[in-house]
Amino acid sequence: AAAPLIDQFQRSISYMRLSVTDRCDLRCTYCMPEKMKFLPRREVLTLEELYELATGFIARGVSKIRITGGEPLVRRDIVDLFTALGRRIGHGLEELTLTTNATQLAQHADALAKAGVRRVNVSLDTLDRDRFAVLTRRDALPQVLDGIAAARDAGLKVKLNAVALKGVNEEELPELIAWGHSQGHDVTLIEVMPLGDVDEERLDQFLPLSVVRDRLEQRWQLEDIDHSTGGPARYVRIAETGGRLGLITPLTGNFCAGCNRLRVTATGQLYPCLGGAERVDLRAALRSDNPERNLADALAQAMMIKPEKHHFRMDERGAEPAQPRHMSMTGG
Ligand code: GTP
Ligand code: 5AD
Ligand code: SF4
Repeated sequence: AAAPLIDQFQRSISYMRLSVTDRCDLRCTYCMPEKMKFLPRREVLTLEELYELATGFIARGVSKIRITGGEPLVRRDIVDLFTALGRRIGHGLEELTLTTNATQLAQHADALAKAGVRRVNVSLDTLDRDRFAVLTRRDALPQVLDGIAAARDAGLKVKLNAVALKGVNEEELPELIAWGHSQGHDVTLIEVMPLGDVDEERLDQFLPLSVVRDRLEQRWQLEDIDHSTGGPARYVRIAETGGRLGLITPLTGNFCAGCNRLRVTATGQLYPCLGGAERVDLRAALRSDNPERNLADALAQAMMIKPEKHHFRMDERGAEPAQPRHMSMTGG
């Protein structure tokens, strides 16, 4: 078997985040501008190429694949990719999953479950329809809630992701958490990261999760637990709700020492770190006359350049200029 992927800091790569499109039907203000320019379709990998890449990573020891976007479910025929990759579950692949905004999850939940998906992460920052419409610039909360319900009915485990935003949803976070837990879902809070140019004053909206945690502790009893999904979240159990709460703290608590991830964009660019500009062109390797050798070389290169940690900062003094790349390119 081919050698596993281990970087310079002895971290082994078991988790691939594969973006299948940069397009999205929402326009979350912290993610993209209203007039977002998307890539021409010809730049994007075909479903066959995506499959080839994913299976290449499985052969190198990747056991978890998360399909991301943009919004993965806006890509036509994307369920076919899930179906094809689902056949690799139990043959190197242990988990096949996705992160979605759920606007179209109701249509696809059954097919995803049938393909072998067991768990989905759904982005949901607010339960207030008007606030949702302002935050995502689309009035789509009812569809999203339908999508979440359909996922549960299809037997999928749902984790809700909420980006914590000062002055936007901060007051609502306890309610959002309580609602998620009452529905049987895990909830994860995320610190907003400086990625891509957006119209909004994202810096002003940065809310450290240490602050949120202190506030939650005034109301509830939080207990650290060692649950792990292989992602960056640290989990606590809330005694009163009985549910699990994840905290993703790229700014206030660096989790890079345990990093097991790589991400590949819809154009086949491998970014060894979400916070870095360095990348390796897998599409060129894939489309070359010796894909197997060139992919192996590209992955060796990726292991060489994966940085020890990201350097996101959002304090008033040291605000980093945003990475020019949007989150919708890299898929998080
Ligand atoms: P689980 O499998 O449930 O653990 O999922 P996950 O947290 O790995 O994935 P998800 O797509 O739900 O991402 C949640 C948030 O974590 C998003 O804001 C991602 O951008 C962020 N995230 C995931 N991996 C990394 C990483 O390596 N670095 C940074 N800075 N953020 C990450
Ligand atoms: N900072 C933090 N999280 C973000 N997401 C999108 N953009 C950002 C950002 N700038 C979140 C989405 C989704 C996940 C993939 O990343 O809300 O849940
Ligand atoms: Fe779309 Fe997700 Fe970006 Fe919102 S955060 S615009 S749902 S890709």
